[in-house]
Amino acid sequence: MEPSFPSQRTSLDKEEESSPNGHESRYRDIISTLPKDDSWKPLGFHYQYQGFWYFPATFLEGIMSAQEQFEAQPSDILVSSVPKSGTTWLKALTYAIVTRARFDPSTTSPLLTTMPHECIPTVEGDLFHNSTNRDPQLPLVATHIPYTSLPKSIMDSGCKIVYIFRDPKDAFVSLWHFAGRYIAPKDHREEYCPLEEAFKLFCKGMSFYGPYWDHVIGYWKASLEWPGRVLILKYEDVMRDTEFHVKRLAEFMGYGFSLEEEKEGMVQKIINLCSFENLSNLSVNKTGMHRLRSSSLLEIEKSSFFRKGKVGDWKNHLSAEMAEEMDRITDHKFGSVGLR
Ligand code: A3P
Repeated sequence: MEPSFPSQRTSLDKEEESSPNGHESRYRDIISTLPKDDSWKPLGFHYQYQGFWYFPATFLEGIMSAQEQFEAQPSDILVSSVPKSGTTWLKALTYAIVTRARFDPSTTSPLLTTMPHECIPTVEGDLFHNSTNRDPQLPLVATHIPYTSLPKSIMDSGCKIVYIFRDPKDAFVSLWHFAGRYIAPKDHREEYCPLEEAFKLFCKGMSFYGPYWDHVIGYWKASLEWPGRVLILKYEDVMRDTEFHVKRLAEFMGYGFSLEEEKEGMVQKIINLCSFENLSNLSVNKTGMHRLRSSSLLEIEKSSFFRKGKVGDWKNHLSAEMAEEMDRITDHKFGSVGLR
């Protein structure tokens, strides 16, 4: 069957110009049969696969390919998140923690010259064709894939998973800005989905890798089942007491700080390196484009990953009624699995 792709091209659609190989055309055939929705205008179609919404279709191809061939190693650490919830921060922190014996966070860390997303390969973006194309010294791999759709080898391998999420109100506001400023095609940005409409779509579950709540719940349930393997962090908690959570994260990953390191200020050095203020002001993160899929032209401005970096910015964008509505959904969905 002929796949159907968005008629309006988004900033992320350049990849469709590259000719698909055999696998990609097979995935495109499958994608053409999936439920789709283009309400989040002018981004083009979101596709529903295994209970979650994906956009653009090329990301979904990467997921399907990873599900078939990604081989996790027992020593891997999966850095996972629901989009716009602190992925960039968690990638920076995990990378700085794991590589601190090789690179001093204040002087030689690659994070000073390479954006966090380019320091850690992504399952569905970089490793979907070849899971061994990695730095053997770096156990970190990143993903946004929902827990229930992860490649089977990840759970079979026994590898650890660290996951971050945040208040869905802030995640929504962050996503709405990100998609409107950087993903909507430049010549169609005035048609961009108004905040109120996007809010309704998000609440219905129609957002990148949404429903947001189901994404969180999948990892949350896994953390209850395998507490030694899955660590859940909340953006607001990490913001409130960064030192405590950085130490907890390091310990969980098997890279706990020695007393000597603590005395020498290693924890604080990592916190400083990875802070929003520091990362967003590095020239590597202020200029240039980030390639979202290593084998393609799928690109986005690096600066798009740094907006405000604050807790509670939703107050500047959502009405009291909108906030109440989203809190109601959150209480209902999270409450049903004991997540507060
Ligand atoms: P805001 O849009 O609310 O500012 P992700 O990394 O998952 O795409 O999430 C992006 C959000 O994380 C954005 O939130 C961004 O500003 C914020 N962010 C990026 N780097 C950060 C950092 N080092 N510390 C805290 N927040 C950060």
